[in-house]
Amino acid sequence: MTSKIKRSNSEALFEKAKTYFPGGVNSPVRAFKSVDGAPLFMKKGSGVNVWDEDGNEFIDFCGSWGPLILGHRHEGVFQAVVSAMDNGSSFGAPTALESELAELILSNNRFIEKIRFVSSGTEAVMSALRLARGFTGKNKILKFDGCYHGHVDSMLVSAGSGLATFGTSSSAGVPEILANETLVLPLNHIDQLRQCFKDHGHEIASAIIEPIPANNGLLLQEKTFLLELRKLCTEYNVLLHFDEVISGFRVGFEGAAGLYDIAPDIVTYGKIIGGGLPVGAYGASKEIMGMVSPDGPVYQAGTLSGNPVAMAAGIAQLKECVKPGFYENQQERTLYFVNALNNHAKSKGYNFQIVTVGSIFWLSFDGQTTIRESARINADMTGFRKLFNALLDQGIYIGPSGYEVGFVSQAHTKEILDVAIEKFYSAMDEAL
Ligand SMILES: Cc1ncc(COP(=O)(O)O)c(C=O)c1O
Repeated sequence: MTSKIKRSNSEALFEKAKTYFPGGVNSPVRAFKSVDGAPLFMKKGSGVNVWDEDGNEFIDFCGSWGPLILGHRHEGVFQAVVSAMDNGSSFGAPTALESELAELILSNNRFIEKIRFVSSGTEAVMSALRLARGFTGKNKILKFDGCYHGHVDSMLVSAGSGLATFGTSSSAGVPEILANETLVLPLNHIDQLRQCFKDHGHEIASAIIEPIPANNGLLLQEKTFLLELRKLCTEYNVLLHFDEVISGFRVGFEGAAGLYDIAPDIVTYGKIIGGGLPVGAYGASKEIMGMVSPDGPVYQAGTLSGNPVAMAAGIAQLKECVKPGFYENQQERTLYFVNALNNHAKSKGYNFQIVTVGSIFWLSFDGQTTIRESARINADMTGFRKLFNALLDQGIYIGPSGYEVGFVSQAHTKEILDVAIEKFYSAMDEAL
């Protein structure tokens, strides 16, 4: 069942784009491969709304995959960008704006003492892995199946067979020899975790995890698992790396580290930190960050790192996030929305529930079970595809993949959520 919305302009643009870009896109999930039809080419966004090139209007819950926690074209972010741009777009020299954003972050975060800005989440992770290796003098990295850390070579690796496996590359072009430097474990398995540290702790530089895994559904971990990981990392001199590209500034200003009150050794950020412009960052203690060039021997650099326009957008956005009550309010509205939809699904007996934390939510087609491991997700995406298309018909836009999460922004007021809830009910009743 494909959506009935008008799509001729998007279809024409997609045909043209396919002649220029692999699959017609500059990032694969945008191609709508798992939901049928041409991707919607977006033209404009404001508050909760987006409009596509055919003039369709949607209430947006994708939020550019997470960065837009204040909604589209937030006035404060817009004005900050315009005024920074007025002074010139880039200098390749330090600006006061970098320190202003750093101060805002570091003075409201108990877990990192120094930070380095880069231009994407992937770049942040890549740099942080190098830093961990440089700091510990060890080479292996432990990751968890189902966590995504950007398209860094050594992270495009999935579990081989057996326990505590050496990874095998999950993308062409990643040498096996590199994949073998990554160990892959299932999430939420304390016994396998202990065994892996026992066998390999001496050679692992860092253990990287999305403390709130949100790239393969929303695989909320038991706190005991995260605490055990913290404990083992300390015991074996392994750096605990929280990849908070999604959860950072999303579930709280201090991200998942703050939410769980678990101190990582290295943290990576992206998405929200740049106010919708390309910014990533990694941070750690002064001691660990002291290894980074030019203070230390771990090289890392970037022509557009700390770009003033992007810094201005990040400052404007994070100044809103840091205000008292911001996150409580986000969560309260998200729960209002999610509870309404879950009650409806339950009353109708749909094999469907919405999982949520902070202002993140995931449409799970696994009945009422709590899923904590990627291997347990229902691989049949028929239900998602039907719901996605029915939602488009109702004027609701979510990310075009059943493995992706949705986001509630500050612009999603209760009044707007009430409208969205009715639209969701209609879509669910048609699709499920
Ligand atoms: C947890 C996590 N790490 C890293 C990345 C990569 O970030 P980027 O797409 O900005 O390179 C993502 C992107 O979704 C992510 O969710």
